[in-house]
Amino acid sequence: MATMDSLIGLMNRIQRACTVLGDFGGGTGGNGGLPTLWESLPSIAVVGGQSSGKSSVLESVVGRDFLPRGSGIVTRRPLVLQLQQTQKGEADYAEFLHLPNRKFTDFNLVRKEIQDETDRITGKTKQISPVPIHLSIYSPNVVNLTLIDLPGLTKVAVEGQPDSIVEDIEDMVRSYVDKPNSVILAISPANQDIATSDAIKLAREVDPTGERTFGVLTKLDLMDQGTNALDVLEGRAYRLLHPWVGIVNRSQADINRNVDMILARKKEREYFQYSPDYSHLASRMGSEYLAKLLSQHLESVIKAQIPSITSTINKSIEELDKELDSLGRPVAVDPGAKLYTILELCRLVDRIFKEHLD
Ligand code: GDP
Ligand code: NA
Ligand code: MG
Repeated sequence: MATMDSLIGLMNRIQRACTVLGDFGGGTGGNGGLPTLWESLPSIAVVGGQSSGKSSVLESVVGRDFLPRGSGIVTRRPLVLQLQQTQKGEADYAEFLHLPNRKFTDFNLVRKEIQDETDRITGKTKQISPVPIHLSIYSPNVVNLTLIDLPGLTKVAVEGQPDSIVEDIEDMVRSYVDKPNSVILAISPANQDIATSDAIKLAREVDPTGERTFGVLTKLDLMDQGTNALDVLEGRAYRLLHPWVGIVNRSQADINRNVDMILARKKEREYFQYSPDYSHLASRMGSEYLAKLLSQHLESVIKAQIPSITSTINKSIEELDKELDSLGRPVAVDPGAKLYTILELCRLVDRIFKEHLD
């Protein structure tokens, strides 16, 4: 019987296989319905206004420093990040899909590669590109999750950006959160009025019932003296189906001083424990709690989706079989070999799901 963790791991493997085999979602036709397979796999998309703290939240959920962060438009291509839990005692490493033969153990180099790979497509400009970067992180200390970091929603184009950028970013973000099985991590900064939150606005549009929206309130430490965010965190200001989670990420000064993740998490925990406003909520606040909450949610989403994914896979198997027949079966050259690999993969997934349901 497959465990839930291995199921999420399996999802990650299928997502990667679909990508390698050129079946990344959004495409039309070809390869026996696999774009549909990709689209039926769950993931978590991080959404919010520029500099609301999206990359910082994602980093703390992962528990590693590896993302470019800062003021202004830093994230300019989607980053599809797959977290894979490994055996206790194993060293953390990262791999990019575009650099298949290179294992990164230095996470500063991961950050640099994300920057370089962004520039490779967009140039050293403030332009954006919808072409995703795929990164996998292997560590005993992560929960199995697929997270997507996205460029921030903006209201105006700045120098060096085309006027269409506001819409381009919104369209790009929407293409990720439109999928009915995408979980929306809606990031809003506590030092701005929640009524003006771009994240909440978009989330409400694509997920009116709030079933797949998790509200995250960042920058609690930056609120004006004498004010607090209890109205939001306790669901009075804007009610969501899932409870709000408050976060304190590293400030720009912390980043400049290289405050590491362990210290940052400790400071965050203490912030909630000793805060006169939030101590009663301390056990349900912070990035570690958020990571657990997301992992649990993703598990339940996958469980609920097993029947529909199985039927998509079965359809794929049929179509692939037909396609292979028309090509004349055992072929060692493309595209037959590729289809065969996909077919084998689908059969494997199908078998594992059946075992799981038994
Ligand atoms: P993104 O543009 O939404 O990805 O935001 P980033 O994660 O790049 O953060 C933008 C800036 O806000 C960085 O300088 C962060 O250090 C800072 N920041 C993010 N979250 C917090 C927070 O909770 N508290 C403080 N003080 N600063 C934060
Ligand atoms: Na930013
Ligand atoms: Mg960012």
